[in-house]
Amino acid sequence: MDAPTQSSPPRRFRSQDWFADPARSDMVALYLERFMNYGITPAELRSGRPIIGIAQSGSDLSPCNRIHLDLAKRVRDGIRDAGGIAMEFPVHPIFENCRRPTAALDRNLAYMGLVEILYGYPIDAVVLTTGCDKTTPSQVMAASTVDIPAIVLSGGPMLDGWHEGDLVGSGTVIWRSRRKLAAGEIDEEEFLQRACDSAPSAGHCNTMGTASTMNAVAEALGLSLPGCAAIPAPYRERGQYAYETGRRIVEMAHEDLRPSHILTRDSFLNAIRVVSAIGGSSNAQPHIMAMARHAGVELTASDWTEHGYDLPLILDMQPAGRFLGERFHRAGGVPSIMWELQQAGVLAQDCITVTGETLAENLEGREARDREVIRPFAAPLREKAGFLVLSGNLFDFGIMKTSVISAEFNDRYLSRPGSEGVFEGRAIVFEGGDDYHHRINDPALEIDADCILVMRGAGPMGWPGSAEVVNMQPPDALIRKGVQWLPTLGDGRQSGTSDSPSILNCSPESAAGGGLSWLRTGDMIRIDIRAGTCNALVDEAEIARRKAEAPPPVPQSHTPWEELFREKTGQMAKGAVMEMAVKYRRIAEMTPRH
Ligand code: FES
Ligand code: MG
Repeated sequence: MDAPTQSSPPRRFRSQDWFADPARSDMVALYLERFMNYGITPAELRSGRPIIGIAQSGSDLSPCNRIHLDLAKRVRDGIRDAGGIAMEFPVHPIFENCRRPTAALDRNLAYMGLVEILYGYPIDAVVLTTGCDKTTPSQVMAASTVDIPAIVLSGGPMLDGWHEGDLVGSGTVIWRSRRKLAAGEIDEEEFLQRACDSAPSAGHCNTMGTASTMNAVAEALGLSLPGCAAIPAPYRERGQYAYETGRRIVEMAHEDLRPSHILTRDSFLNAIRVVSAIGGSSNAQPHIMAMARHAGVELTASDWTEHGYDLPLILDMQPAGRFLGERFHRAGGVPSIMWELQQAGVLAQDCITVTGETLAENLEGREARDREVIRPFAAPLREKAGFLVLSGNLFDFGIMKTSVISAEFNDRYLSRPGSEGVFEGRAIVFEGGDDYHHRINDPALEIDADCILVMRGAGPMGWPGSAEVVNMQPPDALIRKGVQWLPTLGDGRQSGTSDSPSILNCSPESAAGGGLSWLRTGDMIRIDIRAGTCNALVDEAEIARRKAEAPPPVPQSHTPWEELFREKTGQMAKGAVMEMAVKYRRIAEMTPRH
């Protein structure tokens, strides 16, 4: 669909079907009267000005997004100054670190809730307030389904964290300190202090974890003002961008510039390229797939390898590198990353964005200002640093983030003379996170450096939701011997802040009868990085026998939503969306009945 031009005639907004329907003056009075009691006048609501929703994701339960409670005031100012009427409303809270059994349950719930709000209320366009991991994809998915003009306003990362003169990044400091705790190098008090020091202000994770990744993705897709993603939450520019975002969404409402004009296969491939170049989170895979599917854009698993794997890592930011969000922003943020990709000829440049301009126009003059942080494409931190997609008899799809492979891990497993890229290990199988924590230090398992740790029961159906538990650390005794990482794989996810080169998101998951369901401790697994394969060395007859003997257990649901989620949600390879939901698209074109 072509994007509308700025010279289109004035629009009649869908909100006027509520507030100015001459055929139903009885209903109009009902719709209008309760808005009056906070001072708004009938004339305002019937003036034909666009009503702009502010999807408020901040709350005490969403501390990573809490800055939006303040930013929304500046968004309102921008909306009002540009001639719109603001209406702020809550979206279902999502807090990655605290929601049990996992925040992944909330993405599709927040999605569905927002779809109903945007469809069922008199909203003509919307500001999506993003931050913590899933708050970005859930809102973009909903805006796509409804397809009214939408713009993303990131709340921004926290300031950089410092501990005793060293940068400590959110999440990453936890995984690194856990290994130090296991090795006896620090005590619990020191552990807590490191965690607190990594979180010095309002904002979302200051590492290139899932939050920073997904806000970068939103910007790469063309859904936010250029430079928006990386501005730290407390910075002056954050409030200024909130104001400009408010102004711009009013113009977008008049231009009818909708997600369906912006979200194309090219824009999604750009997002995959950016995730690779920044060493972004492995959680970007299901979220990008979910957003694409709700936008009706065809993406395949191999797109990650074909368009992302060969790209270099050019951002020096934790967990793949050294720095944190403030340096990234000062170096130029997402536009400077995209500028590098553009100069190297690996960016689709004609994509239209929320500015009304193309990506190429937005990127003019955006060369990086700090070459220590954003490297030239030709002199990167690491070559071929994207995501690798693997398959075999254990799963049809698994993904590995190669930008975090350490020299130690590479030497031990990937570059053994004579067997480059191939390694075999004895499987140690855990039934979810609790089983792992109970047994990882059990000497009877005889875990050594030639083992592969496997986590099952952690996928969308199994957990439910899919949990960030696959980045399992080795037994304490092995860490004390200097083995910081073992190869790990599983049907769950890992935190975007983790520096573990795990094989993740394996689909189909064990609870759905995938290959991990018949795997047993002691089986040999062969991983061939070059061929992109991962197989258990178990013959077909034995696999068939095990499948018949012990089908995977049916997990118990504890809430109505868990049950519904399990029933409707698909596998990680396909974005873990509610499969029945993807057929609903551009629903705002149909006005709901009175
Ligand atoms: Fe919310 Fe990292 S836990 S952004
Ligand atoms: Mg996370």
